[in-house]
Formats: sequence, C-alpha cells, structure tokens
Amino acid sequence: MRKPYIAGNWKMNLDRKSGLALAQALREGVGDRTDHDMAVIPPYVYVPEIVRALEGSPIRVGAQDVCDQVSGAYTGEVSAAMLKDVGCDLVVVGHSERRHVYGESDGLTNEKLHRALEAGLEVILCVGETLEERQAKETESVVRRQTSTGLAGVSEADMARVTLAYEPVWAIGTGLTATPEQAAEVHGYLRGLVSGVFHEEVAENTRIQYGGSVKPDNIRELMAVGDVDGALVGGASLKPDSFLPIFDHAG
Ligand code: PGA
Repeated sequence: MRKPYIAGNWKMNLDRKSGLALAQALREGVGDRTDHDMAVIPPYVYVPEIVRALEGSPIRVGAQDVCDQVSGAYTGEVSAAMLKDVGCDLVVVGHSERRHVYGESDGLTNEKLHRALEAGLEVILCVGETLEERQAKETESVVRRQTSTGLAGVSEADMARVTLAYEPVWAIGTGLTATPEQAAEVHGYLRGLVSGVFHEEVAENTRIQYGGSVKPDNIRELMAVGDVDGALVGGASLKPDSFLPIFDHAG
C-alpha cells in the first residue's frame, strides 16, 4: 500500500513570519496523523527555522533545489550535505521552473538527484510535458526521457527514497488541471517505466504525485485514480485553509 503523500512547494513566496505562521497552522492541523505524509518545501533561507518549527511533528521539510556538486567553489549554490546538516529531509529536483526558466537538463537533474541520495536525503523528481509537446503527442517520449535519464544509476534500494511527480507544465499555476483520465494515462505509463527500469515490486512501491493547479475541489477526483499517490501543490499550499483540506481529502 502506497501512503498518500502531499507536498507543498512554496516556491519564492511567503516571508519569515508568514512561513512560520503557516508551519504552525499545519502542525496543529496535522497533529500526529501519520496515515498520510505531508511535506513543506520552503525557500532555502527558511529551511532551518521551518525545521525547528515542525520538530516533533510528522510533517517533513524539503528544499526546492540542491547543487549537483559535493562542495567547493560554486558561488550561490547549496549542497545536499548542508541541507541534511540543518535537518532538511528531502529535495525537489527537475521542477519545470528549473528546467524551463533556468534551462536545467535531464543530466544535471540526475546529478542533483544523486548528490541528494548520497547525503541521505529523499528526492521528489518532477517530470512533465509542455503544451506544445502534448499537442505534438510527445508526452510519453518526454516523460520517458526525463524519467529514465533522471533515474539513471539509482539503485533499487535507493528507489525507496525517490518519489516521482508528474507535473504537466501547462497545468502549473494556470488553473488548468489534467483530467483524471489524462493523469491516469501518464501515471500508469510512469509506473510501467519504473517497472521496466527496476522491476514490478519497485514500481508498486514508488509513489507518483500529481502536480499542477491541485486544489481542495479537485484532489478527490485525482486521488481516485489508482496510480495517483498524492500531490505536489504550489499555489494552494501557501494557506492552511487550502492546503489542509487537500491533505484531508487525499485518501
Ligand atoms: P501549482 O504549482 O499548484 O501552483 O500549479 C505546482 C508546482 O509547480 O509544483
């Protein structure tokens, strides 16, 4: 059984005070519930304080990115070991904003994923097609390339610390959501890919989140899709009033 997993990507939003208030409200809302997993993913600078604010709560704390190098002269970067050092649990790699706004490749994404796993972190690997790619019927080839290159060199044992997130780029921050049928198609395809690269049991245990305009009023229909195991939420994760209902309705 795959436990529903709801993660909130704050992106470059909120400030120290509002981030702490949100963490506190989520802490109270989640209590000691462990039938679903929740993670919050604040900007780097707030990670240590959010870790402290959520200490003793089941809510995990992640970072939105990580450096592909271990240490050294990489101005502006933050290493996986540093994130681990301040109590961070996971990192997101391959988010479409990293791929499309900052031009990050599948190879770079794969390096970042390895640095995170080596440091003992969990990873959410995002994949997804643009609108042009969907219209050109390239969805499967795009997510296949992103997934197989993204997971290259990962051991079967380490897959226990990897979550996939299918985030169609055309649905992120646009108010457009993939229909349950569209999500079912791609999630099923991704699970098959994981089965092909590893084997059936790994595929059965790997959680695949959906992301792209997830809200309290569409989470139920998305979660009703057998291969949708949770959500990576952007805009609706910034307020307890929208994020907690998504968490509550996830299973
Ligand atoms: P959104 O973002 O929920 O605001 O569409 C999702 C994401 O980018 O992870």
